[in-house]
Amino acid sequence: MQTVNTIQALRSAIAEQKRAGKTVGFVPTMGNLHEGHISLLHEGHKHADFMVSSIFVNPTQFGAGEDFSSYPRTLEADSEKLAAAGCHLLFAPSAEEMYPAETSGWATVQVHDITENHCGADRPGHFDGVSTVVCKLFNIVTPDIALFGKKDFQQLAVIRRMTTALCFATRIIGVETVREKSGLAMSSRNGYLTQEEKSKASLLYQQLRIAKEKITLGEKNFAQITKDAREALTQGGFGAGYFNICNAENLQPATANDIHFVILATAQMGGARLIDNIDFEI
Ligand code: PAJ
Repeated sequence: MQTVNTIQALRSAIAEQKRAGKTVGFVPTMGNLHEGHISLLHEGHKHADFMVSSIFVNPTQFGAGEDFSSYPRTLEADSEKLAAAGCHLLFAPSAEEMYPAETSGWATVQVHDITENHCGADRPGHFDGVSTVVCKLFNIVTPDIALFGKKDFQQLAVIRRMTTALCFATRIIGVETVREKSGLAMSSRNGYLTQEEKSKASLLYQQLRIAKEKITLGEKNFAQITKDAREALTQGGFGAGYFNICNAENLQPATANDIHFVILATAQMGGARLIDNIDFEI
């Protein structure tokens, strides 16, 4: 696996592959890689000849008081994992390479509507940071396909809309969430949990499954389902969060006529803000 740190070096490595007629797949990450990230690469190999990954802890998607400075940076171990998974090229730029001081404030990318609720409401400006950095990365890598986890369901929806609205030629592929045996969704932030908190944390996915079961059986009182889940989570040691039953296409509150649902949930456990979801059709 080749590693490059500059946009110029990345561009010439990609150009060489494209000249050779290779298709390019891309997995953007913030590092501290686990099996969830690696599953995106494995899926990518099925659709593209040449796989590129990026590791960049993007400052613009973190709000004040969030964990930007403490976010785990484990480049060496990450490189080994990527190489073992058959990644061909790693892009690991500096903050100055991605956001040169002289262009600061010139332009951002903003996806509307779908960014307003859920994580967007909890973390103002977060999705502007995500769409801006992913737009820059797409312009640098020019991938034929790009893979994103369904674990961050709203992020995937934001990227899909940005790609369509801004006419990127990149095809977006969503990949199923990889979980621990307990059901807990793998996340770089799970490292913030103590062993005891980690065992409690699997309740979040349990509650998502219970709610899915109720809806699948015909229960239409979504407010009650949400209330029951939030109560169970509070009793199970979770702090503040949301549990939103939505239409999976537009992420608006679900209605009784909907067929494709997603339940988006987040809840605080110890020092970690956990996020998870379940999507299903009835
Ligand atoms: P990061 O949190 O590192 O995640 C990188 C990719 O891995 C995202 O597409 C995310 O949805 C996916 N992922 C994380 N955990 C997963 C799991 N358990 N199963 C499957 N996929 C999983 O998401 C970001 O970084 C950033 O916002 C980024 C898109 C890189 C922009 O900075």
